[in-house]
This record gives sequence, structure tokens and C-alpha cells, in this order.
Amino acid sequence: MKLAVVLLALLSCMLLFELGMSQKDEQKVKPAADKKAKVKPKVEKKAAEKKTKVTTVKPKPKTTPQPPAAQTHLTQVLQRGRFQKVGNTLTVVAGDTLELRCKGSPVQWGIPPYLEEDDEGRLRTVQHDRYGTLILANTTGADTGEYTCFPMYCEDVECRKEYNKAVKVFVFFADPQELFVPSANYYEIIHLRSNRPTVLPCQITSPQAKVTLHREYPPTEVKVDGAEISYEVTRGFTIHRPKQYHAGSLYCVASLGNLRQSSTKYMLIYVNYPAAPPAPFIQASSDPVTVGQNLQVTCTVVGDQDVLVEFTWDYPGQTIGRPLYTQDSMQTVQVDGQSRQRSQSVLLVDEVREVDQGTYTCTAQNLEGSRSASTTVKVVPARSANKPKKP
Ligand SMILES: *[C@@H]1O[C@H](CO)[C@@H](O)[C@H](O)[C@H]1NC(C)=O
Repeated sequence: MKLAVVLLALLSCMLLFELGMSQKDEQKVKPAADKKAKVKPKVEKKAAEKKTKVTTVKPKPKTTPQPPAAQTHLTQVLQRGRFQKVGNTLTVVAGDTLELRCKGSPVQWGIPPYLEEDDEGRLRTVQHDRYGTLILANTTGADTGEYTCFPMYCEDVECRKEYNKAVKVFVFFADPQELFVPSANYYEIIHLRSNRPTVLPCQITSPQAKVTLHREYPPTEVKVDGAEISYEVTRGFTIHRPKQYHAGSLYCVASLGNLRQSSTKYMLIYVNYPAAPPAPFIQASSDPVTVGQNLQVTCTVVGDQDVLVEFTWDYPGQTIGRPLYTQDSMQTVQVDGQSRQRSQSVLLVDEVREVDQGTYTCTAQNLEGSRSASTTVKVVPARSANKPKKP
């Protein structure tokens, strides 16, 4: 934590130094204390607190030589030509204009998905000689999200994003009426997948809001201990290892000052996901098989318990409309002292004909994906074996 603060301080100082050196139009950069007075104290309180910590280590850069600034920076353009280096998050009062500046020629911008769909003409990006700007006017709480600058690397006319130099800032548009980013839906269905963390976004518009997690039935507050469930202001609640008992209807409550609001509801449905797609094993009852005999091709998957595996078949007789007869079964087996589930599909081919010769493929599918296995079966004429007996 302390290290992070020191690093942040160093970065801020490097930027201030660099801005002063390299961009004459940015000479108006003012010390942090000045910014505090400018922005609304209610919303910027936390940011102001952070700044005080930063100032204690500030004198350092004057005595230490500066390494070349390889890292790109995002700068917020404030009113009357003032600039402010932005950290990981930034708070703007909803209704105000956001103006970000990013060094690079050219740069590309990443914006929240909702804005990508339709910004209603409020979003403008301008490329200057040495930097690009993003200007978002008439902002609302719904604009809250991640804004990214990608400096572009160009050769002749071909340009590509330099992902390793991308800089992000999560911007909150603090709306005194709407603590949560508005959602189009009254409730959202979320699959609690047993094999990966589940996130309940309930994104707030103001980082100062206090957020709690609640269950609808029975009405209880859900304990957020930071291990099983954790909370992050730019991400929401994360259930790290979803279990059946996490399922149900949950919602978030945000409070700030006298305001207390509930988020959209999240219907959590537990789904037992396998760790991986199934690995089928295929085997024919005999190969070659004689015309007139019965053939069985067995496809077997041994995997996690309570995971549904579905089988589909491709077989030579398919092309002439031979019907498909299969017998599917499931059973618990012990493998290396562990209970595993054996899922099996047997393809039955009665009275084999020549058209049944060829490749048999079984595809096993579970929620994580599908895998196939194939085997070839040769069909031999019956007469060659029977003829000598019968004449
Ligand atoms: C912002 O809102 C004002 C007032 O409704 C409007 O006149 C102006 O055109 C808007 N600006 C943009 C860029 O949408």
C-alpha cells in the first residue's frame, strides 16, 4: 500500500515535471492544493485526501535525476487551460464535460460499451500534432466506466495499437440523484458458474457511496468478507468460488449522505460447470464386421460428477438415411479412489450392410465445449466366409 502511494507520487511528479518541460501550452499546471478548491468538495473528498499523502514525498524529483518518460499519461483538461494528471480513477460531476488528453500521434480511444452504441453526438475525439483529446459533453451517471487511450505505432500508412502502452482511467460521473449507473433492465439473470468467479456489477456513479449486498428472500445482508465475496468500486461484487447456496435474487444498496438506493436485481442461477470439455473415447464392437451382423460403436466420457454430457454421432449410413439408434447411459465409477461419472452412448447398427463401412465419429459436449473421437470400421462380405459351407 505504502509502496503504491510512493509510486503514484513519483509518477505524478514525473508527469508534472515532464509537462512543464515539454509542452508550453501546459505551463499552467497548478499544485494539487489549488485543484482541491476548484472541484466540488462533496464528490472530491477522497481524491483530496489522497493528494495530501502525495505531497509529503513531493520534493524528491528536484534532487533525483528523472528517467526518460516512456510511459504514456492521461491528463484531464480542466477549465481555463488547467491540467491535471489522472490516476486510476477520476470523478467528474455529472453534467460537466470530460476532456482527456493523451500523448501520442495518433492515439485511439476505448470507451464504455454503452457509449460505443450511441453517444448522441456528445462524444468528440480530436487528434493534434502530439496528442489526442477526448471530449464528452453533457455527461450523465450512465457514462461511468473505463476510458482507455491507445497510442498507435505507425509504419508508413499502417498503424496498430500499442497495447502495452495503453493507459486507462475509470471515470465516475457523480450524479446526486442516481447512485447506480442506470440499467435498462429491472432484473438481470446471471449464471453462477461453478468453475469461475461471478461478478455482480451494480456499478455506482460516485466512489464515495457505501455499497452493501443484499438477498431478497429471506431479506438479509450478505456478508462481504473480501475472500469468499469481495467488493471493488470499479467492478462491483465478485463471488470467487460460486456455490449452490449463493443462488437466488440479490441486489446492492448504495448510500451517500441522505440518499439510499437499490440497484437492479440479479437473479443468480447456479450451473455446475465442468472444468474442461469432455474427452471422448470411441470403440467399435468388432472391426472388420461381417455383413448381416450387428455392430455397436461405444463412445465413453469419464469426467466430473453431475455434469451433463450430450452425444451426437456421424456415421456412414447417415448419407442414405439409415436411422440412428443409440443407448445413452450414465453411471458413477471409481477412478484412482475418486468418484467420477461415466457417460456413455452406444450406436447400434443392426444387420450391417456395405454402406455401413467407414468412419464413425462421436461428439461429446458439455457446457465448456465439445470434443470428437473417430474410428473406422471395415465391412466384409458374408458370403466369402459362408459360401464354402453352403453350396
Ligand atoms: C449539451 O446540452 C445543451 C443543453 O441541452 C445543448 O444545447 C448542447 O447542444 C449539448 N451539447 C452536446 C455536445 O450535445
